[in-house]
Amino acid sequence: MDYLPIFTKLENRPCLVIGGGSIALRKVHLLLKAGAEVTVCALSFHEKLQQKADAGQIKIIAGSFTETLLDDKWLVIAATNQKEVNKEIAESADKRQLLVNVVDNPALSSFIMPSIVDRSPIIVAISSGGKAPVLARLIRERLETLLPMHIGRLAKISGEFRHRVKETLQNVSLRRRYWEKLFGNGQLGSLLQRGDTKKALALMEASLTEDVAQGDVALVGAGPGDPSLLTLKALQLMQQADVVLYDRLVSSEILDLVRRDSDLISVGKEAGNHEVAQSRTNQMLVEYAKQGKKVVRLKGGDSFIFGRGGEELEELVASGVNFQVVPGITAASGCSAYAGIPLTHRDYAQSVTFVTGHRKENGKSLDWKALAIKNQTLVVYMGLIQAEEIQAQLLQFGRGGDTPVALINKGTTPDQHVVIGILSELTQLGGGLKGPTLMIIGEVVNLADKLAWYNPENSHKLSRDPFLVNLA
Ligand SMILES: C[S@@+](CC[C@H](N)C(=O)[O-])C[C@H]1O[C@@H](n2cnc3c(N)ncnc32)[C@H](O)[C@@H]1O
Repeated sequence: MDYLPIFTKLENRPCLVIGGGSIALRKVHLLLKAGAEVTVCALSFHEKLQQKADAGQIKIIAGSFTETLLDDKWLVIAATNQKEVNKEIAESADKRQLLVNVVDNPALSSFIMPSIVDRSPIIVAISSGGKAPVLARLIRERLETLLPMHIGRLAKISGEFRHRVKETLQNVSLRRRYWEKLFGNGQLGSLLQRGDTKKALALMEASLTEDVAQGDVALVGAGPGDPSLLTLKALQLMQQADVVLYDRLVSSEILDLVRRDSDLISVGKEAGNHEVAQSRTNQMLVEYAKQGKKVVRLKGGDSFIFGRGGEELEELVASGVNFQVVPGITAASGCSAYAGIPLTHRDYAQSVTFVTGHRKENGKSLDWKALAIKNQTLVVYMGLIQAEEIQAQLLQFGRGGDTPVALINKGTTPDQHVVIGILSELTQLGGGLKGPTLMIIGEVVNLADKLAWYNPENSHKLSRDPFLVNLA
């Protein structure tokens, strides 16, 4: 982060603007909106600045900048059209450890002024740190259309009602739930949009007695790694959660999107080492929900595909805990898409089968005869440790040794690596790979040469030679 975004209280605080043109006028306008006591120093003044001075809204000083003007000021804006003068102002302010903004010159500024969307008391500030002002402007325009005008009124009336909520609902999590429910259903917004403050207040009062105490669990699929593959619903629930129990496969970029003050609990699992962890996880889900918390159980990919989601839900049903399920993009969809390998194709594969290389100790074995049939795609989750068996069984049941195979490691992330080879080499292909790896077997893999589009900087080049891959 190049700049720390902060909102400054300037009410009745003396601020200085140097420069008397239209840019200075815009800055003065903003400072006045924030209630600052504004002094403008310039050689000549825009007529509107003069009018403000005549109306007693600002003080103007005709003349050149002198350092003593900085005495007792909280903040300074240099808006002259003379580079040297702006530089002198910046240096003098810096010497006094005073915050200074030099218009259009981030290098000389100790603070910059963001683009803003003003729905006071809701204010959204957008900055590109001076690197892409047009992009920042486009984002602002988008937000302007997204944020309805009445949102300011909504924030204001909520502020006025806060004490009433605090007095009625004793704990923080109940109060948060109250507000989320109220803002979430849109009724309050439409009343305010129509200007019906009386009914809005009645609704707020009535909602206080509704039951918001019951906790629940949302089983949320977080997708294969790229945070932008999260669903909107997943994001909304992550933003509302009191507690998030997450798996090892959920990336830190995704965890960064969870509401800041929710409790993040890792219930990470490694293949073959999670029997105790799973039962403890189930127990925690029930316990937190029964404490009235909103629990998000965040899992890599999709919870119902080799994710043990079903097992966790059975436990919730048995304990009478309410739940919902939010599907995620499973590794097969995400990794194949990012590697340019369509899982089906009218010319090469009429079906696709997902299997797991990791099964319960006494789990049923796979139907290798069916899996070895040509013109189908086989996707193997957690297949690397079983590469030897997969290769041997498929060859034994008639799959050709030259059937193309792809190993996609850390798919959809900036570290994605794709290794391509053939079935008869499968055991040697994944030697250097660490981290989650998905195996795709079938003729569709040949399309990767033509269709690969995702080339992040850290990614290893698509390789056909397993011995070139050294990723340790
Ligand atoms: C326990 S399974 C979980 C699957 C998950 N529920 C899903 O729907 O993707 C873990 C396996 O999924 C595959 N996997 C998950 N994310 C992956 C990724 N980003 N890249 C490659 N493989 C991945 C790997 O085979 C990994 O060993």
